[in-house]
Amino acid sequence: MAQLRHEKIVISTGRRSGLPVIVAVHSTALGQAVGGCRLWRYDDWRAGLEDALRLSNAMTLKCALAGVPWGGGKSVLPVPPRVELTPSLRRDLLHDLGDVVESLGGTYGVAEDVGTTAQDMATIAERTEFAYGLPQAAGGVGEPSAPTAAGVFDAILVTAEQVWGTRDLAGRQVGVVGLGQVGSRLATSLGAAGAKLVVTDVDRGKRELAEALGATWVEPEQALAIEADVLVPAALGGSLTPSTVGDLRCRAVVGPANNQLSDDGVAALLAQRGILWAPDFLVNAGGVLYGHEMEVGSRNHDTAMAAVTGIADTLRDVFARATHEGITPLAAANALAEDRIAAASAR
Ligand SMILES: NC(=O)c1ccc[n+]([C@@H]2O[C@H](COP(=O)([O-])OP(=O)(O)OC[C@H]3O[C@@H](n4cnc5c(N)ncnc54)[C@H](O)[C@@H]3O)[C@@H](O)[C@H]2O)c1
Repeated sequence: MAQLRHEKIVISTGRRSGLPVIVAVHSTALGQAVGGCRLWRYDDWRAGLEDALRLSNAMTLKCALAGVPWGGGKSVLPVPPRVELTPSLRRDLLHDLGDVVESLGGTYGVAEDVGTTAQDMATIAERTEFAYGLPQAAGGVGEPSAPTAAGVFDAILVTAEQVWGTRDLAGRQVGVVGLGQVGSRLATSLGAAGAKLVVTDVDRGKRELAEALGATWVEPEQALAIEADVLVPAALGGSLTPSTVGDLRCRAVVGPANNQLSDDGVAALLAQRGILWAPDFLVNAGGVLYGHEMEVGSRNHDTAMAAVTGIADTLRDVFARATHEGITPLAAANALAEDRIAAASAR
């Protein structure tokens, strides 16, 4: 039987919406468990639970590596097939989540994730004080994508340095999978740095942006096979599996998508293929770092953006440890996070 590694898991049927509400608190060893709320369609709520368990674990690692005194949590609002999420049902569902978050008394703080917005956080905040990332107009820090993209961009530079000995991206072919909030910002920065862009998205409306960036468009089914120096997964997670690793035609993978590996064993398969993978939960921590600075620290945009630069230093440490110990970057990142959690627990 798999060991339960979560401190608390709440699964309930929303009183107003009648829909499932899932909150997973993985660890509060470093502080309040924080993590976004994923509102997504699932065939079965249990797949949503699986996501909540995995994503909350990743949040613990992310906060530990980012050096912020927060633990790991996640909420998932799995919308069943054929349920039409009208604006009023959506509001009810968000209020149901707010009640669950409030009932946890601050153990878990909710922020936005795939399928939710800063405005949704304002709706949740009508039911709980533990909702973060509210719109700026409502006195919050707003959308975290810009700092997330900035952190991933820095991580791509560190990875380039590790592989080619130079941070210069001019002429490097970079494939960006997913041109959403983070992917579109990244593609813009990468293009400005001189990278040759190959992009894709399931939303064909993103072709316009691709054209504006002078990028080559490929169909989403070909995403993993993009021939590139660096592949940037910026859509949903789980795309790198034992069977898809063989399709890759890149030298490095660095992107914001959470939980890119279907399981930890994929890290070794990537290494065997000579593909350098920068751990997602390390490189996509820009939003968390920024959010922490703004919510708890200075509330100054420039200072908060400066905190994001720490990601590059940590990634350098992780690559160095991986090389020194002959382990994968995933194992090195996990070890570093566990060292920090153990040190905090001992204190
Ligand atoms: N927004 C943040 O600050 C942040 C922080 C940390 C991690 N992340 C992660 O980064 C990823 C992107 O986040 P986002 O905020 O940009 O999300 P988003 O929803 O704005 O963008 C995702 C984009 O990916 C596209 N997409 C979905 N499935 C696809 C597929 N199979 N192939 C190609 N494109 C596909 C969507 O159409 C959309 O344009 C997510 O995995 C998210 O969990 C985001």
